[in-house]
Amino acid sequence: MGFNSSNIQNELLSKIATNNGHGENSAYFDGWKAYEIDPFHPTQNPDGVIQMGLAENQLCFGLIQEWVVKNQKASICTAGGAEEFKEIAIYQDYHGLPEFRRAVARFMEKVRGDRVTFEAERMVMSGGATGAHELLAFCLADPGEAFLVPTPYYPGFDRDLRWRTGVQLFPVICESSNDFKVTRKALEDAYEKAQESNITIKGLLLNNPSNPLGTILDRATLKDTIRFINEKNIHLVCDEIYAATVFNKPNFISISEVIMDEDVECDRDLVHIVYSLSKDLGFPGFRVGIIYSYNDVVIKCARKMSSFGLVSTQTQFLISNMLSDETFIEKFVGESRARLAKRHGAFTKGLEQVGINTLKSNAGLFSWMDLRRLLKENTFESEIELWKIVINEVKLNVSPGCSFHCTEPGWFRVCFANMDDETMRVALRRIKNFVLQHKGNNEGEIKKLQCRSKLEISLSFKRLDDFMNSPNSPISSPLVKDRKGKNKSYYHFV
Ligand SMILES: Cc1ncc(COP(=O)(O)O)c(C=O)c1O
Repeated sequence: MGFNSSNIQNELLSKIATNNGHGENSAYFDGWKAYEIDPFHPTQNPDGVIQMGLAENQLCFGLIQEWVVKNQKASICTAGGAEEFKEIAIYQDYHGLPEFRRAVARFMEKVRGDRVTFEAERMVMSGGATGAHELLAFCLADPGEAFLVPTPYYPGFDRDLRWRTGVQLFPVICESSNDFKVTRKALEDAYEKAQESNITIKGLLLNNPSNPLGTILDRATLKDTIRFINEKNIHLVCDEIYAATVFNKPNFISISEVIMDEDVECDRDLVHIVYSLSKDLGFPGFRVGIIYSYNDVVIKCARKMSSFGLVSTQTQFLISNMLSDETFIEKFVGESRARLAKRHGAFTKGLEQVGINTLKSNAGLFSWMDLRRLLKENTFESEIELWKIVINEVKLNVSPGCSFHCTEPGWFRVCFANMDDETMRVALRRIKNFVLQHKGNNEGEIKKLQCRSKLEISLSFKRLDDFMNSPNSPISSPLVKDRKGKNKSYYHFV
């Protein structure tokens, strides 16, 4: 069946459903389309597009698979777990399985270095962080009212907070001159500007660690933002879904820690945390999202609404079993950080070798790559022009800064944790060749490099084939098989 989206068809539907609030027509998704038409595969399509626009944490699936095999009781559809099937399959408390809420609360504490405690009663479930953001926006603001958001920010916020709620986002402009820091001045400027435009600001949305920057907010900045929101009497929503991806010092500091500091006065009713297991555990498919609010009324409202986006009880059951295995979780989180650090190091070093800088970062599944010097002009048109070349000729799906509302052209987000080592090497090689060509190096030098790269790639493919045939290969997981097979539509911001 084909989809007919003609204007006549649209007139029969609601305006809100047919408007562009989802953002599917944005530049961000054009890269995804290019990838879907021509996806890279090491042997079947070695010249295809490599997906570097997907913030997925795939580096530790082997550990998870091992745990699943050893703990069949946690999966109710196995011979070892079928006993629990009926109990889990029937209607359950819409607040979530008590053991699930306890286990996630405990996990959140661990990830925050056991410096804070979370009450299971304050946890509300949602369909991923996506659902959590919408639900909170719905609870905290009326249509037309706005949240401040520091730029550059995750493009999905435009959809999640705005589309169905009618809430607006108002940018807080952060700049490369101070590494995109969220300063008090930038917050005040944005607040003032919104007031001049007669827009009521209801809250500030922070993302710590940041997608796309991969940086964390320091204690002083967090304290400053708490003072700011208290002075203005607005809400603070902290998206901390990358908390366990902090792979190098300094350590992550959660807002939950800073509100306890004695030198900061804070009305806790204004503070809400969004969390999910999509990034820290690498389970975006499970759609486990959490709202943790210090405000009783918000929790009550959110609970009433959460039935629109509950987490399946089967998933809750599996997750609560897994997270309660503290020895496993400790090992997993440590190993995940170590692998992210290694991957990030190898990737950024590879870029440095051809003179490409990335913003100094210590978290996340991506780097914020500075290609300003490759722009023809300092404009967003030039950014898009360069981006098209990167997608169509270099065959890498990276995401242009404009889709993150970055106010300076030439920045790109490039994801590095959704692929195996060999694919990353191929990606780096392509970037190197492109930059050398761009620099106008003499042909001989480029040819030499290309020959060497072909040899390296063919050697690495040999190693990759060995790796793929091994039972521990993440490439043989059904997830990746689907992606390299038929074109699939999974338009979701990540
Ligand atoms: C900052 C941020 N918030 C929320 C989300 C959505 O996460 P989920 O898959 O849990 O809905 C993403 C996904 O990439 C994200 O980067």
